[in-house]
Amino acid sequence: MKTKEKQGVGQAHIRVDGKKKVMGQARYAGEFTLDGMLYAYVVSSAVARGKVSGIKTAAAERIEGVKGVMTHANRPSILSENDDDWRDQIAPLGRPFRPLWNNVIEFSHQPLAVVVADTFEAARCAASLVEIEYERGVHTTDMVAARKDSYHPPSGKIAYNPPPETEGDPEAVFATAERKIDVTYHTPDHHHNPMEPHATLAHWNGDKLKVWTKTQGVMNTHGFLAGAFGLDEEQVEVVCPFVGGAFGCGLRPQYQLVLAALASRAFNAPVRLTLTREQMFSFGHRPYTIQRLRLAADESGRLNVFMHDADGETSKFEHFTETVVNWGASLYPAEHRKCTYNLVPLDLYTPLDMRAPGGATGVHALECAMDELSYEVGVDPLQLRLINYTETDPASGLPFSSKELKACYQRAADSFGWSRRKPEPRSMTRDGKRLGMGMATGIWEVMYMGATVKAEWKPDGTAVISTASADIGTGTYTILAQIAAEELDISTDQVEVRLGDSSLPQAPIEGGSMTAASVGSAVKKASSQLRKELDEESSRRKSGHSVTVQNQPGEEEETHAKYAHSASFAEVEIHPVTGSIRVSKLVIAVAAGKILNPKTARSQILGCATWGIGMALQEESVLDQAYGRFMNHNLAEYHVPVNADVPDTEVIFVPEEDKEVNPLGVKGLGEVGMVGLSAAIVNAVYHATGKRVRHLPIKLDSLL
Ligand code: MOS
Repeated sequence: MKTKEKQGVGQAHIRVDGKKKVMGQARYAGEFTLDGMLYAYVVSSAVARGKVSGIKTAAAERIEGVKGVMTHANRPSILSENDDDWRDQIAPLGRPFRPLWNNVIEFSHQPLAVVVADTFEAARCAASLVEIEYERGVHTTDMVAARKDSYHPPSGKIAYNPPPETEGDPEAVFATAERKIDVTYHTPDHHHNPMEPHATLAHWNGDKLKVWTKTQGVMNTHGFLAGAFGLDEEQVEVVCPFVGGAFGCGLRPQYQLVLAALASRAFNAPVRLTLTREQMFSFGHRPYTIQRLRLAADESGRLNVFMHDADGETSKFEHFTETVVNWGASLYPAEHRKCTYNLVPLDLYTPLDMRAPGGATGVHALECAMDELSYEVGVDPLQLRLINYTETDPASGLPFSSKELKACYQRAADSFGWSRRKPEPRSMTRDGKRLGMGMATGIWEVMYMGATVKAEWKPDGTAVISTASADIGTGTYTILAQIAAEELDISTDQVEVRLGDSSLPQAPIEGGSMTAASVGSAVKKASSQLRKELDEESSRRKSGHSVTVQNQPGEEEETHAKYAHSASFAEVEIHPVTGSIRVSKLVIAVAAGKILNPKTARSQILGCATWGIGMALQEESVLDQAYGRFMNHNLAEYHVPVNADVPDTEVIFVPEEDKEVNPLGVKGLGEVGMVGLSAAIVNAVYHATGKRVRHLPIKLDSLL
């Protein structure tokens, strides 16, 4: 028998689903087919606000193979009238969007009609012939201009982390402080841009609805469909075994799901609806933020005033919130502290969580500001973080459940060669290029939710783990197999993991970097219970046996602040004439509790690094304010990093033992590596050039 040292938790096991993916056997939402399946294509609004006054479909209907055109006027009237029914698990407060509800247009690219045909090509061709007549309204999509309408997010039952309490007298102390900075940063809209577009195949069998759809949570989609279509839970099944990247855009169900199900009902056939790349810019996105940081320090560099005020974008129908300004209050103590967060409503679709939502943007501004402060007080940037290091969370007053951030700083700095850095900006060169070195801190909250898992022992000595969680490319299939293998004392390859089907035991959405903790802990509990029952009655091993176990975090009062941390160090080379920027080296050290699989964990952090480079230097969804429309809605003009943009990246996992966070002692890795990374790059660009860029992304003209 193979030993668990070789097979279980902590080993660099290759992805158990890797072979399927490489062989093309892993099927994604848009690849499922059914007999008699029809194809749907969405016609999107060309205006950002107004009304549909007419839709001419005759030309479209004449195209061979077209079955018809569905609009708000002729869609099946089977949708719930009640806003509550349209609220998915993570819907913000407000009024959820209902596609083809009526003739009102609330954002550019809003779906206004769906053409259904017996081929995709016929549907697409016909869609181009649908003529929409508009009654145009006046839209507002300019974040800067609309700031005058900003408001406090309402509080309610939906999770929203309000900013920490004000302490001391920050405004007055800041006014008279000697060493201080007052700086404002802008971060733009971003779109998730996974390789796999949103797609749904919907099929009604009598009054039962089954969908194969792209989602980060089959249970969330399941509950949403039941609500929106007024069905009992048993009447709905949602399947999504694989996700081709999501980064948050699969957290909330999107309109293609509703439209595919509506069209399937209207045309009495299975319907597949796949969004185009352009239409992937038509729904949730990372919101624009404008952030003001006011920091003051004593002559040693110790912070005494910390003020972080942010405006974030939302739609006019939902109050989208993210945690932008809270991070600094859990990283750096300051006697006088104030953080505010307000929303600016625009005529765009509601923003959506994306790659470390709130943290990526909030900590970006914070860690750039700390860099600015380091020059103001004349202290090395790393030293400034160490001077302000804390072992208790200043926001809550609680000790950290574990915090090996200091080790992250030290190990990453050593490996990077931070001690070779000359403090003066523009003081370093290499091969005729300006050389810059920058660093930043990362932090991410540890989340942990309940989940249910079925663990089954088969007579052939293998096991099956089933739960309605998702693997969004993160390695969930693999780590869950490893956890079960360790408990059952079999090899990882002897465990089959089934995910992504709402008929399996319930699990939360895969988001917030919480799946390893939440579903992993439930797998551990179920597998250990199964092992116990097998040991009690040995005949069970020969005949097969299963248990279904729920793991629910306790309700007891929090005694610890729970965060993962990281330290990022970036080196850039900048051409002195053209200003072209190349990230030449990255070192990221991460303290995130126990590492279940160093191989898939490293991949997670490499992904974070890649997106950090994108955020610093490339990604921006550009609005044409005249049309209220994102105009670079393709991968030629929305730039994401390619291999040539990403240098050799060193990932260091700092050992960290945590007995408080969850039974596995894991903290989640999907996001923490990205938090702060863009700041490290921007700080390196400042060091290389002496130019402080406060609008992301840094472009060539930012440095001229
Ligand atoms: Mo993540 S933005 O919670 O998928």
